[in-house]
Amino acid sequence: MTEISTPAVEVVAGVIRDARGRVLLARRTEGRDLAGLWEFPGGKREPGESAQAALARELREELGIEAEIGAPLIRVPQAYPHKRLCLDVYAVDRWKGTMRGLEGQALAWVPQHKLVQYPMPPADRPVVAALEQAPLYL
Ligand code: C5P
Repeated sequence: MTEISTPAVEVVAGVIRDARGRVLLARRTEGRDLAGLWEFPGGKREPGESAQAALARELREELGIEAEIGAPLIRVPQAYPHKRLCLDVYAVDRWKGTMRGLEGQALAWVPQHKLVQYPMPPADRPVVAALEQAPLYL
């Protein structure tokens, strides 16, 4: 049973786009929950950290880039059997550095219309739906 009183884990993620408008997905590595699924890169917010600071930190740690965090896109509440989380998603169109999977995760640059073909964590699905409703053009 889900404990209604359990606070939601605050998670941040980025819709990172390259100059051609493709979006970056990262594959969750073995040994983590939801392993093998493709997600918008990000992770947990730490206490006292703003969503933007958390996302910039996660993208630095996971991808080796210095990202400029852009507009907020969508906030997705998601209940799992064992926990609740809230995914805050931001656009990221500008960054410095060489993008690479520093934690051994596979990366894929995906045209927006092909995002639906990638198996994703449930919280990430509404992000794809939102992008389909209101595609982000460069
Ligand atoms: O990446 P990390 O394990 O720190 O993420 C914390 C939680 O947020 C995990 O349960 C993960 O499945 C979830 N998450 C998600 N979508 C993302 C990033 C993380 O559902 N894009």
